[in-house]
Amino acid sequence: MSTMTANLAAPTDMLDPEERMSRDEIRALQLERLQWTVRHAYENVPLYTRKLDDAGVAPGDIRSLEDVRLLPFTTKEDLRQTYPFGMFAVPMDRVRRIHASSGTTGRPTVVGYTQGDLDRWAALVARSLRASGVRPGMKVHNAYGYGLFTGGLGAHAGIERLGATVIPMSGGQTARQVQLIRDFEPDVIMCTPSYLLTIADAMVAAGIDPASTSLTVAILGAEPWTNEMRAELERRMGVDAVDIYGLSEVMGPGVGNECVETKDGPHLWEDHFLPEIIDDDGMPLPDGERGELVFTSLTKEAFPVLRYRTRDLTRLLPGTARPGMRRMEKITGRNDDMIILRGVNIFPTQIEELVLGIETLTPHFVIELTREGTLDAMAVRIERHPDLSREACEAAAEVLAQRIKTHIGSTVAVRLEEPGALPRSEGKYKRVNDLR
Ligand code: DLL
Repeated sequence: MSTMTANLAAPTDMLDPEERMSRDEIRALQLERLQWTVRHAYENVPLYTRKLDDAGVAPGDIRSLEDVRLLPFTTKEDLRQTYPFGMFAVPMDRVRRIHASSGTTGRPTVVGYTQGDLDRWAALVARSLRASGVRPGMKVHNAYGYGLFTGGLGAHAGIERLGATVIPMSGGQTARQVQLIRDFEPDVIMCTPSYLLTIADAMVAAGIDPASTSLTVAILGAEPWTNEMRAELERRMGVDAVDIYGLSEVMGPGVGNECVETKDGPHLWEDHFLPEIIDDDGMPLPDGERGELVFTSLTKEAFPVLRYRTRDLTRLLPGTARPGMRRMEKITGRNDDMIILRGVNIFPTQIEELVLGIETLTPHFVIELTREGTLDAMAVRIERHPDLSREACEAAAEVLAQRIKTHIGSTVAVRLEEPGALPRSEGKYKRVNDLR
């Protein structure tokens, strides 16, 4: 961990008033905003009118925060059914911006923002950056993709709002990224964790020590990543690596963010979002138990969401650096990228943890799923370390196979690849290749 961390904590007088609220004050604010949101959604979105009527719930029934449980869930399928603008709660002439996420299958999901929504979003990203250690006057290299994806433009507005300088690089063109980081000397980089690995490698290829650049903070998200990956990136790049969380349907980046002084999972900005955790059957779970994360927006005008099922798996924990707001544990995965291999559940992040725990392995790996006869098989294809002998690499691969067997309980093949043989990330990395 960088020795700078302690100095990066935001002084109290720099925080938003809501970040200084007590738990009780936050809850009172949430209830008032929840009541507004439910009424707003019910009165302006036909899908919500129908869903609430079907469930026999009226906006006036929401008398406590726990009453959120009376509401039906919203799913990605609801968004698809109402494609493109059916869930907008304001007339189109009040919508200032549209974003969409491509999704892996079917129609994209489309979201909209009023001017007020854009202002609140920028303020929450600015809050997230401040929690990460960014200050006015710093330069921020923004390598999240610009366009319909919420990452690039979402981060962009927050950087400006904070009073920092944005370098709107977007994703891709890795050689150019390296050159601009060298020439413009940014203090901060924002990108996916897998893309930061790609950039670090490209620096080495260009004869630059990744730890020697001007960068001191990396704000990483948009895909699951582990604390082991954090340690690897901090060591290689000489930065504090901080987790930013968000999703298009709920806003975009900045739904929650880690505080750099604790790095103990993102604090959720609960003045704007009400989180819940549910089990597979949709039953609410208490704080501390792991399940699917669900959000109800509290201030969104154009695209309010009631109990939106994220499919992200985590648990809620008490706030630390911001005691009034809860944290979530770093996301372990999504319930749709869980691999079920002969009855054993495996998340790609579990493999990442084990890979990064072996120093003689590179972090460049993909998981391949195949079918052999009637049985499913899994292989980890991993690039060998360029500076080590064949034998040393083979020994490392063997250790990985054993650790997967011991820790996860599955027999998987570990196949060594030549350096540079696997595709490199340019944004969200596709870790699993399903050939079944
Ligand atoms: O990825 C928003 C974003 C942009 C977040 C830039 C952070 C930085 P979507 O494309 O809608 O939006 O994808 C949302 O990405 O449900 C999670 O599965 C995953 N995800 C986002 N942030 C994290 C994170 C953006 N910090 C989906 N850790 C979410 C783990 C994350 N997974």
